[in-house]
Amino acid sequence: MMDRNADAPWAQFDPEVYVDLNYRVPLEVDLLIVRLMRDYFSKCFAEGVPDPMRGVDVGAGANLYPGLAMLPWCEKIVLLEYAQPNVEYLERQTSPQGYDEAWDAFWNELGKAPAYAAVEPRTRFGEIVRVERANLLDLDGQRRWDIGTMFFVADSMSECPDEFRRGVRCFMDALTEGAPFAAAFMKESVGYQVGEHRYPAYRVNEERVRESLEPFVSELDIHDLHHMVRPGHEGIILALGRRNSEIAVP
Ligand SMILES: C[S@@+](CC[C@H](N)C(=O)[O-])C[C@H]1O[C@@H](n2cnc3c(N)ncnc32)[C@H](O)[C@@H]1O
Repeated sequence: MMDRNADAPWAQFDPEVYVDLNYRVPLEVDLLIVRLMRDYFSKCFAEGVPDPMRGVDVGAGANLYPGLAMLPWCEKIVLLEYAQPNVEYLERQTSPQGYDEAWDAFWNELGKAPAYAAVEPRTRFGEIVRVERANLLDLDGQRRWDIGTMFFVADSMSECPDEFRRGVRCFMDALTEGAPFAAAFMKESVGYQVGEHRYPAYRVNEERVRESLEPFVSELDIHDLHHMVRPGHEGIILALGRRNSEIAVP
């Protein structure tokens, strides 16, 4: 029996353990991803930002760097997350006391590009970022954002191929035409452990990621990063691109 998204113990997800495992000591691959995303968004907006933009990070969990990467370009950012402990973690990070020091290392990389250097991240993050409890699989194209990120979610929430594809489609249908996006996937992940609990994954490679995204994009650049961060996967796939004008298929 394959583990579906609804079967996993999301209510027991421990964000502090997750940060300890993944982000407290910044890994070279995350800093590389941050640089690639920073440079891609900077290229997309080299002529400036046309109108005030709204950004979304889907399945934000206990990771602030996708949200930080959208900071210079947006007037509002929403972090959508399903697991209640992660929602509470994110609410603390957006409170007036400011986000944890752990995230400074990621901003240090972002801040090396001019558009980012002009931003005071802690204040701005508290001002424009809001957290909302939501299920990715319920996003039906009614709400759309002008820039978006989805890191280790569609591939890291279920073992089922149909839920992976639906997760990608729901993310894509949450973006406006032309919206730049960044999405990351664990390559060939067999699932992951956070504290006492085990979470499911769907095994993807570059080809599966490309196939799932291609119907929705006008521009796509896939980076197959051969860094291993733990046993049980074979690297990380980072997709950078822009949403095309296809209408959602219900
Ligand atoms: C591997 S974690 C990734 C977290 C974070 N984005 C990161 O980059 O580290 C998977 C995340 O997906 C969230 N998630 C699982 N099912 C979801 C759903 N149906 N809708 C939205 N988020 C979901 C989990 O709560 C968790 O935060």
